[in-house]
Amino acid sequence: MFRPEDFIADTIANLKKTIPEKALIAFSGGVDSTVSAALVQKAIADNLIAVHVDTGYMRKNESKFVIKTMEELGLNYRFIDARNDFYQALEGISEPEQKRKIIGEKFIHIFENVADQENIQCLIQGTIAPDWIESGDALRAVIKSHHNVGGLPEIMKLKLVEPLRDLYKDEVRKVGRILNLSIAERQPFPGPGLAIRIIGEATPKRTELVREACDIVETEIEKAVNDGKMGRPWQYFAVLIPIKTVGVQGDQRAYGYTIAIRAVQSIDAMTCAFSTIPHQILDKISTKITNKMGAHINRIVYDITNKPPGTVEWE
Ligand code: XMP
Repeated sequence: MFRPEDFIADTIANLKKTIPEKALIAFSGGVDSTVSAALVQKAIADNLIAVHVDTGYMRKNESKFVIKTMEELGLNYRFIDARNDFYQALEGISEPEQKRKIIGEKFIHIFENVADQENIQCLIQGTIAPDWIESGDALRAVIKSHHNVGGLPEIMKLKLVEPLRDLYKDEVRKVGRILNLSIAERQPFPGPGLAIRIIGEATPKRTELVREACDIVETEIEKAVNDGKMGRPWQYFAVLIPIKTVGVQGDQRAYGYTIAIRAVQSIDAMTCAFSTIPHQILDKISTKITNKMGAHINRIVYDITNKPPGTVEWE
C-alpha cells in the first residue's frame, strides 16, 4: 500500500543525496510540478529555482495564478514570457506528435538557458508514471509523447531528476494533501497546454477561442459541482475542431468552427469513462460559448468516448 508520509521522508532524503547543490524546476502550477517543487524545496531550500514559462497555450489567467502560487510557497522563482516564441515555432505545424516534440524541445532550451545563466546542472520535472508509460520505450508503443518526456533531446546538458516518476495521480494528490498544498485537488492540465486542444495548427487566433471555451466549461462545471448538481469530473475542458459548419446568427448565415466539450471520470488517467454532465449544464455551456463567440463558433458537440479507445486529450 502507498504511504504518502513514508514517500515524503524517503524522497527528501534521496533528493538531498542526488541533487548537485542547485536545481531548476519546470513549474507549471499543476499538481505534479507543485508537489515536486514542495518536496525539493524541503531538501535544498533556496537552491531550488522554479521557472514558469508562459507558452501562450495556458488557460485564462493561469500564469497569474501560477505566480501567486510560487509566491505563497516562498519559492525562489523566475517567470518567462515565451508566448511569441512558441506561437512562431508552431506556425504551419498540424501533426500532433510534431507539435508535442517542438513544444518539449522549446521548453528544454528555455530551461537550459536559465541553467547556464544561473550555473545549474540539474533539472527537476514533475513527470508521473502515465507520462512515461504512454510516451513509449523499448517495450511499449508510443501512445503520445508527453511533453516532459518525448521532447527531451538525445543529448541533454542537464541532469534530470523526477521525484514522482513512479507515482500515479491519486498518489501524487495524497502527497500534496499531506504537504498541505491547496492545489492538490486541481484538475490535470497537459504540459503542451491548449496547443493539443486545438486540432491541427494551433494559431494564436484559434488559441484565444479555445482558451475562452475552456474557461466557460470550467466555470460552468465548477458552479454545477458547488451547487450539488453533479460530481466533480476528473478533467473537464473544451477542444477546438477547426471544421466549419453552417448555422444561423440572428437572421444571417453563419459558417464557423466547432467546439467539443470533454469531461471524464478516472482514477489514474490510464483509463477513463466520459462524464454524464446534466443536460441543463450542457445547455448553459453551449449557449454561453455561442453567445460569446458566435462569429467564430456556431456548433457545440459532446464527446462520449471512453479511454480506451479514445484518450483524455484529443491529440
Ligand atoms: P491522455 O490524453 O494521454 O492523457 O489520455 C492522460 C492524462 O495526461 C495528461 N496529459 C499530459 N500531461 N504532459 C503532461 O504533463 C503531456 O504532454 C500530457 N498529455 C496528456 C492529460 O491531460 C490527462 O490528464
